[in-house]
Amino acid sequence: MPYASPQADSKLTSAVTTSTLRKMKADGEKFITVALYDAPMSAMAQRCGVEVLLVGDSLGMTVLGYDSTIPVTMEQMIYHVEAVRRGNDKSLIMGDMPFMTYSTPELAMENATRIMQAGAHMVKIEGGEWLAPTVKMLGERGIPVCAHLGLTPQSVNKLGGFKVQGRNDDQAEAILKDAKLLDEAGADLLVLECVPSELAKRITEAVSMPVIGIGAGRDTDAQVLVINDILGLTEKPPKFSKNFLIEAGDIPSALNKYAADVKAQIFPADEHCFK
Ligand code: KIV
Repeated sequence: MPYASPQADSKLTSAVTTSTLRKMKADGEKFITVALYDAPMSAMAQRCGVEVLLVGDSLGMTVLGYDSTIPVTMEQMIYHVEAVRRGNDKSLIMGDMPFMTYSTPELAMENATRIMQAGAHMVKIEGGEWLAPTVKMLGERGIPVCAHLGLTPQSVNKLGGFKVQGRNDDQAEAILKDAKLLDEAGADLLVLECVPSELAKRITEAVSMPVIGIGAGRDTDAQVLVINDILGLTEKPPKFSKNFLIEAGDIPSALNKYAADVKAQIFPADEHCFK
């Protein structure tokens, strides 16, 4: 028996799939996503009913000590996707594709194949219209894709810092247009990071794919937080995050509280949102 195995008392009773998430969007039921990186936390997330796990390239900053996600490699992503998959047999697992590993559709196919073979059920890529052919190509070959718009951390040097995106009309329209194009290309999920709540609401209503927000208000179909932020491990926590460990007292209770507050639309509160 591995040290970190999902328990019989898991709140998830069957495997979460892209159809599960589309039905939840249609039914207006919020789903939970956590970015995490190892087997014990993955097993705990299953027990707490976390529908989607993101093995994010944020691990470069949260685990490996880099100052951005840019140095993260395929080998590091594969190592952590394998660990997360070993701890969990019900949540849908997304694996981030590192910087420049999907800069052409051919490269994307080669590297997405490796992430899927490591145990992910979906890959995540950052960017807009230019990725529509890649999303289509991967989808046609059986690889589900989560798109990522708004603050795209791999572009931090182009964006001039980790800043809220879509605050002016031109930027907002461009993000909305990108979301629609990626939806039409067949993307299965969309992460919207650090955009005004009103824009996130418009995008969530305009696309058929479920939208997961982080710093994107309460109206997206789901929320994602990084486990380090949930557990208060981050030295300078971002405005959109919350330390759930303080009031919950222990790690499972913190994860349960985060999940319950998202489902009840208590989290994010106004103080975690952008205008
Ligand atoms: O890498 C990551 O963890 C992410 C989330 C912050 C959405 O992309």
